[in-house]
Amino acid sequence: MHDGSGRIAVQNLSKRFGSIAAVQNLSFTVEPGSVTGFLGPNGAGKTTTLRMLLGLVTPSAGIATINGRPHDQLGNPARVVGSVLENEGFHPRRTARNHLLVYAAAIGVPDRRADEVLGLVGLSPAADRRAGEFSLGMRQRLALATALLGDPQVLVLDEPANGLDPEGIAWLRKFLRSFAQQGRTVLVSSHLLAEVEQTIDQVVIISAGMTRYFGTIDELRKRQQPRVFVRVSDAAKLATALQEAGLTQLESMPDGHLAVAGATVEQVGDLALTTGVAVYGMHEDKADLEKMYFGLTAGQFTAQHGPPPPPRQQYYQQQQQYYQQPPQGWGGQR
Ligand SMILES: Nc1ncnc2c1ncn2[C@@H]1O[C@H](COP(=O)(O)OP(=O)(O)O)[C@@H](O)[C@H]1O
Ligand SMILES: [Mg+2]
Repeated sequence: MHDGSGRIAVQNLSKRFGSIAAVQNLSFTVEPGSVTGFLGPNGAGKTTTLRMLLGLVTPSAGIATINGRPHDQLGNPARVVGSVLENEGFHPRRTARNHLLVYAAAIGVPDRRADEVLGLVGLSPAADRRAGEFSLGMRQRLALATALLGDPQVLVLDEPANGLDPEGIAWLRKFLRSFAQQGRTVLVSSHLLAEVEQTIDQVVIISAGMTRYFGTIDELRKRQQPRVFVRVSDAAKLATALQEAGLTQLESMPDGHLAVAGATVEQVGDLALTTGVAVYGMHEDKADLEKMYFGLTAGQFTAQHGPPPPPRQQYYQQQQQYYQQPPQGWGGQR
């Protein structure tokens, strides 16, 4: 029926809604024993991808499988994959326990499982309260409890941190980590890197329906390069000299600084001296992961929906290339 591996595989997956290319030729795999972040700005195509994985939307092209099978061929899917998607509805007058009992019956698990999952998500004290009275954070926990009813091997969560307070986020982080440590698979989407950065091992970053990065979060961190910001008497002259010296990752900042990636202050200072430009100021800035994420996903709307971008200076284009260069071993397209 299915291979029991716990592996999620997305292969050349695309979805069009009329003229909107919501997902374009996405490919990535999620291995068991890890937490994989699925990141991208709002409208990037995350929910659509997860819905295709869960058999709720039919792909225009490509295939998404869990345990080597599309969702509709999993047999008893609730035993294989549990999911929490956006806008999960609850009967407002039904208590948390009763809600879970209904679902437990539907998927054929014993009633005691309802209390077990309430315990797992820390909702036992609220078992007899009506879901309609729950805070957003409590509803997220109840949705997670529902997903856990079948004791699934794979968890797929769409923006689960939305509506959680910092304590709830910390709790969720711990929960997902321990779930993965049992050799299970976790795929969790977010539009905010900071929200999931400490939880995830692997990351798939998408923008405008396309893969921008697929790999470990450590690899992504390693790609960060410190940048030297320098303000000089003649930026164009220094830029030419830097490029001739092999320092081609340059960006002209709006405040007049020239940003140089992969260089030291000594290199830039020495080069300014030999080029004959005066240095008015210089500092080093360690790019953080958040900036990297922003660089990878920026411009999704100008790229697809807006007017063409204005002509850019050559060194600015090179900077863009630096951000969009796929890492080695990247199974993407373009
Ligand atoms: N049912 C639908 N009909 C038409 N367009 C849709 C539908 N669902 C999603 N879209 C569009 O597809 C794109 C991706 O949306 P979505 O997958 O929800 O992104 P994300 O979850 O990353 O915010 C958006 O432009 C969105 O408006
Ligand atoms: Mg979404």
